[in-house]
Amino acid sequence: MKTRVTFQKMKREQEKISMITAYDYPSAKLSQQAEIDMILVGDSLGMVVLGYDSTIPVTVEDMIHHGKAVTRGADDTFVVIDMPFMSYHISTEDTLHNAKRLFQETKAQALKVEGAGEVLQTIERLTHAGIPVVGHLGLTPQSVNVLGGYRIQGKTKKDAELLLQNAKEVEEAGAIALVLECVPEPLAELITKEISIPTIGIGAGKHCDGQVLVYHDLLKYGVDRLPKFVKPYGDLNDVILKAISDYHNEVKNNQFPTEAFSYMMDKEELASLYG
Ligand code: KIV
Ligand code: NA
Repeated sequence: MKTRVTFQKMKREQEKISMITAYDYPSAKLSQQAEIDMILVGDSLGMVVLGYDSTIPVTVEDMIHHGKAVTRGADDTFVVIDMPFMSYHISTEDTLHNAKRLFQETKAQALKVEGAGEVLQTIERLTHAGIPVVGHLGLTPQSVNVLGGYRIQGKTKKDAELLLQNAKEVEEAGAIALVLECVPEPLAELITKEISIPTIGIGAGKHCDGQVLVYHDLLKYGVDRLPKFVKPYGDLNDVILKAISDYHNEVKNNQFPTEAFSYMMDKEELASLYG
């Protein structure tokens, strides 16, 4: 099992870190088989698996339910679980209670939280309690209604300065890695140089220490539109739609099941059943 020490070494030696999201047993198992370095049980779960239009409805129960399936499928891979919307904002007690459940019940290796500011305390507290934390800055989808949409972040000098400062604060608070979502490549490059924990980019260019993509996006699986930063490495929509249509048509046309897919029985034995 890789650890934060492994990822720190990978940054130092400029070996890129591959990360992918997974939400269930088969996606986790195949990701581990492909030798992915880190799996994220993202709260993108809400959109790509549960059919919500944002990550906001996702609950701690949802994350535990799917997180457990993922760690069963990828028992030898570093798994990070997203703390969902408002599960780390109400009070310290509530935050620690939720973090304890997410970490203990899923048997994951780390939790991820979005933002800086008051969240820095959360990163510190969880780290002190023995829970490794991954930060997440730039486009932070749980704040989509405050940000005013899914848009690139850190484009002005002022926003870029704040993002750099927040990245340093997240490191200072004890985070083991930092996800940078939708930030200009040169800014992500600067942040990657200025902090000593690994940066994992999504829509943040090639200079990050690692990359993360959403499972369903990179496979074109159940999603129609892909953001600019997603490269589709497969087209499961086509594959799955064709297979299900073929099955449907063969049932309608009495082409399935043939003898090859049926259990046979001696005619005489059958005759006895008719009495
Ligand atoms: O939920 C998620 O999939 C994420 C990644 C996009 C980083 O947070
Ligand atoms: Na997320």
